[in-house]
Amino acid sequence: MRESQHSRIGVFDSGVGGLTVLRELYRQLPKESILYFGDTARLPYGDRSPSEIIQFVREILTWMAQENVKMVIMACNTSSALALEAIRDEFNFPVLGVILPGARAAVRHGKRIGVISTPATAASNAYRNAIQEISPNAEVWQVGCPKFVPLIEQNRIYDPHTKEVARQYLNPLLEKNIDTLVYGCTHYRHLKPVFQEILPATVQLIDPASYVVKAAQKELEILGLTNSTLTLPTRFGVSGCPEIFTQLSQQWLGFLPNVEKIYLPSVVSSSFSMEILD
Ligand code: DGL
Repeated sequence: MRESQHSRIGVFDSGVGGLTVLRELYRQLPKESILYFGDTARLPYGDRSPSEIIQFVREILTWMAQENVKMVIMACNTSSALALEAIRDEFNFPVLGVILPGARAAVRHGKRIGVISTPATAASNAYRNAIQEISPNAEVWQVGCPKFVPLIEQNRIYDPHTKEVARQYLNPLLEKNIDTLVYGCTHYRHLKPVFQEILPATVQLIDPASYVVKAAQKELEILGLTNSTLTLPTRFGVSGCPEIFTQLSQQWLGFLPNVEKIYLPSVVSSSFSMEILD
């Protein structure tokens, strides 16, 4: 067996959004070992410029390369939209983004497609371009939702204010009679209970997390990198406060993760994440 089959898959996001991808990995590829990183000192990513995102992603992947990962899944739509093409050839392991698998799934389900995402992902048009490249007749409406990530990272999912905010973002899409809604940000799957109270049952919800893991499975098989023995416990790292991440993520993981602080070269302080969590 090749050494790299045992290596971990690197998974990263700005914060707890990528846990939706991690849960799919646990479900679909339980034999794989994972290195999870949340760039919590610098979240939210959704208001950042493309050059900042490219710099952050390059740094995270450089660290993951040093940790000897065999593949990286960008469990972050903003990174996939703004940085995947720019950095993918800089590393000698496969790097997968969530947008193409999400777009492919969306066109299999509908023709009138709403995409909720961070403002940066919406502005990039990554989903519209990917969907219409596969299905030119599909109609796509993208809504940037800047308030969702701070609300989720502050653990305010069941706060009545969150439902009000969700209504404001979803109403324009409902007026367009969408048949499909894509979670264009990995954090948003955590809001499913809120969305289900607002959306008619006829709207199909698409979670790209599930499809990127299917794509990862295929890629591992093609490259002969599938792990079949010796699964290691997930290693968790964050650039901000490990205790906050531990407490917040327990509800989605079902266990209290042991989280390390990771010092990336250009992270100067974790004050920003503390600010939004206060
Ligand atoms: N969860 C990420 C995404 O899918 C980033 C959200 C953010 O930090 O704004 O876009």
